[in-house]
Amino acid sequence: MKRVVFNQKGGVGKTSISCNLAAISAQQGYKTLLIDLDTQCNSSEYLLGPHYADKNNTAADFFKTFLGMFGRKPYLPGFCHPTQYGRLSVMPASPELATIERELESRHKIYKLREALTDLSKHYDRIYIDTPPALNFYSSAALIAADSLLIPFDCDSFSRQALYNLVNTVSEIREDHNEDLFIEGIVVNQFNPQAKLPADLIAQLVEDGLPVLGSYLNASVKLKESREAHMPLIHFAPSHKLTQQFVNVYNLLEGNELQPVTDA
Ligand SMILES: Nc1ncnc2c1ncn2[C@@H]1O[C@H](COP(=O)(O)OP(=O)(O)OP(=O)(O)O)[C@@H](O)[C@H]1O
Ligand SMILES: [Mg+2]
Repeated sequence: MKRVVFNQKGGVGKTSISCNLAAISAQQGYKTLLIDLDTQCNSSEYLLGPHYADKNNTAADFFKTFLGMFGRKPYLPGFCHPTQYGRLSVMPASPELATIERELESRHKIYKLREALTDLSKHYDRIYIDTPPALNFYSSAALIAADSLLIPFDCDSFSRQALYNLVNTVSEIREDHNEDLFIEGIVVNQFNPQAKLPADLIAQLVEDGLPVLGSYLNASVKLKESREAHMPLIHFAPSHKLTQQFVNVYNLLEGNELQPVTDA
């Protein structure tokens, strides 16, 4: 299963959601790969730690193989680096992704990620792709390559507009490039149960037939702490309420039974 986490709006939770779901997936026994396609390298730093930038063989190096810079077919597992968390690997991003983007585009390399993911699926049970906050070459390549899309939604009215634009983009991608792509879930993030607006916005999405996942993620400082510690929540704070909510998002995706969420 190959899942892309995308919303062109910045700061809605793409990195937090992709990394934490990938970490739960690995902890649950699946060989899991997180591919970081954002030049900000946030997922790479979260999961690989402060020395993430020392890694050779990044996602940029992977794409460079198609520009004739290495002159050979890439050995894909070589771009996937193990983390300290069992069964969880990362294909790290690099700022170089920005330098080569235009050439990749002009030389029509948009399907290369899709081909690679078909190969990588033989090595990994689950693949999560974190994307940049823009519909650029990399996010488009990921939407073309993935089986499904998870859309983080941070419950404000601007996000609602971004979401409807994205639903239109998905229809176009399905029509032109990837007919099997489906919106697996809208992941409600930074949910405030005390306020009226978030509940109203979510109700509207549901009314419009969008697949809002029934386990919402609250806002919690634990998430920032876990990112500072370079430790996904399932390891940093396994019994925290937000961790339980993440596990339930994961359970919904995997068709598992939901667990009760407590204030532990
Ligand atoms: N549930 C949450 N509770 C508290 N803070 C959160 C939560 N979700 C995200 N954040 C914080 O919001 C900020 C943006 O989150 P994140 O980096 O996951 O978003 P993003 O969509 O990947 O951003 P970008 O578009 O820049 O890549 C981060 O500082 C993160 O710690
Ligand atoms: Mg991000």
